[in-house]
Amino acid sequence: SAQILAGATTNNVWRYAARLVKGPEGTLTRLNDSYLAELMRLRTGQKLRVTLRNALPEPNIAHWHGLHAPAEADGHPAYAIDPGESYVYEFEIRNRAGFYFFHPHTHEATATQVYRGLAGGIIVNDAEEDALGLPSGEYELPIVLQDRSFTDDNQLRYDVGMHERMIGFQGERILVNGKADYAQDVASRAYRLRILNASNARIYKLAWDDGSPITVLGVDGGLLEAPETKPYVMLAPGERLDVWADFSGRKAGSTVVLRSAAFAGAAPKMAERMQRMMGGGAGLPAGGDFPLFTLRVTRETTDSPALPKRLSKPHLPRLEEAANKNAPRPIAISEAPMAMLINGRPYAFDDWLPIEKIPLNTTQLFEIFHQHGGSHMGMGMSMGGGMGGMGMGGGMGMGMGMGMGMGMGGMMSMAHPIHLHGQQFAILSREPEMVDEEAYATVKDGFVMSGLKDTVPVFTGERLRIVKPFDDYAGSFMYHCHNLEHEDMGMMREFLVG
Ligand code: C2O
Ligand code: CU
Ligand code: CU
Repeated sequence: SAQILAGATTNNVWRYAARLVKGPEGTLTRLNDSYLAELMRLRTGQKLRVTLRNALPEPNIAHWHGLHAPAEADGHPAYAIDPGESYVYEFEIRNRAGFYFFHPHTHEATATQVYRGLAGGIIVNDAEEDALGLPSGEYELPIVLQDRSFTDDNQLRYDVGMHERMIGFQGERILVNGKADYAQDVASRAYRLRILNASNARIYKLAWDDGSPITVLGVDGGLLEAPETKPYVMLAPGERLDVWADFSGRKAGSTVVLRSAAFAGAAPKMAERMQRMMGGGAGLPAGGDFPLFTLRVTRETTDSPALPKRLSKPHLPRLEEAANKNAPRPIAISEAPMAMLINGRPYAFDDWLPIEKIPLNTTQLFEIFHQHGGSHMGMGMSMGGGMGGMGMGGGMGMGMGMGMGMGMGGMMSMAHPIHLHGQQFAILSREPEMVDEEAYATVKDGFVMSGLKDTVPVFTGERLRIVKPFDDYAGSFMYHCHNLEHEDMGMMREFLVG
């Protein structure tokens, strides 16, 4: 068992400090001596017992993102504990090998609590993965991506007005494992990079700056059946990527940089235009082009493992069969200046729509899509009313009012990373139904469609079909946008499984 203390560090940064109370069920390692929680290593089949102690001045509850846990161990906001209290989680690790993570899920405080530092990675291993002999130990690099802004005296700064909340917080610096200007020494051989986007809202377009493709081993819920290469990979908040990075043949002294390349659609088109008009603004705009971290080759070696041709046995058949039998349940995304909604409503505890009641031990098909103005009177009105609040001039507001009447979809709408708690899902299809072709061309080759996912960005005009099992545990499970500012604005709903 382990104990996690939610507390403040000397700089008033918050931290989930983990320690083993009784072993040897797993290991904990401090990542880079930063504010991040210790990286947990666990094994499929083991029992986990964690006591969370809350030494913060406000309520807190931790959620195990991507782990298949019973409802009472899933960090539902209803279980948040007050300062001074403790909460015991007890469950078995039923997931495949993969990279998961934990972060708070406190009602309307998830964004601020994660921003202040509360987050940690969990690597699960299993026998199927062990047999592959993938790079491990010093050749397996956890990479936790976050963006932050700082005050002049180097303290965390989080100012989010209406405009920032709509787009989601975009920090001025990139942190890797809690450090800015991150660089890591490597040998000239193959590495395994375990990348987690733990940013509040920033979407990355991961690309090697020498133009070589990205070799993908796995995604949120573990290894793919076989490696895939992509020119670049989109990684939204909550998503993970398992990358084979081979530096074989590189000379000592050379460097390799992973960057986030420019793309459109991370913010509403209207905001992207404003940004261009105003000359980009401070810091790193959503969809901007900037380096993430540097790998410096410091040691030459010819001793490197080979990339396996196959990685895991097929894990999709049962899901595909279920998909043919069921009518899809909708997950409809809609946006308004003062609200972000799913299925037409903001989050409310115990407020299940019929489509959100899921029979236990079934597999369900969902369709995730953007629902636009037209049919929604209330939404059209709140948009008109909210423009002043976004800090645009009056003339601008008028122009937008007209644009909205004519189907404001593209102007106001943006990508949302949709996350479902519980077991991972498979993506069956991704239709660019009503996309802006020019914007879409900047992201469309960066989606990994195979493998098991728990979070998926849905760009404007896209319609996705996913299929997901609901086994073992009855109760209330969240699904929401993993843009944490959006989540806290109510872009969250829950399923009642049972
Ligand atoms: Cu990563 Cu409901 O959260
Ligand atoms: Cu989650
Ligand atoms: Cu969102």
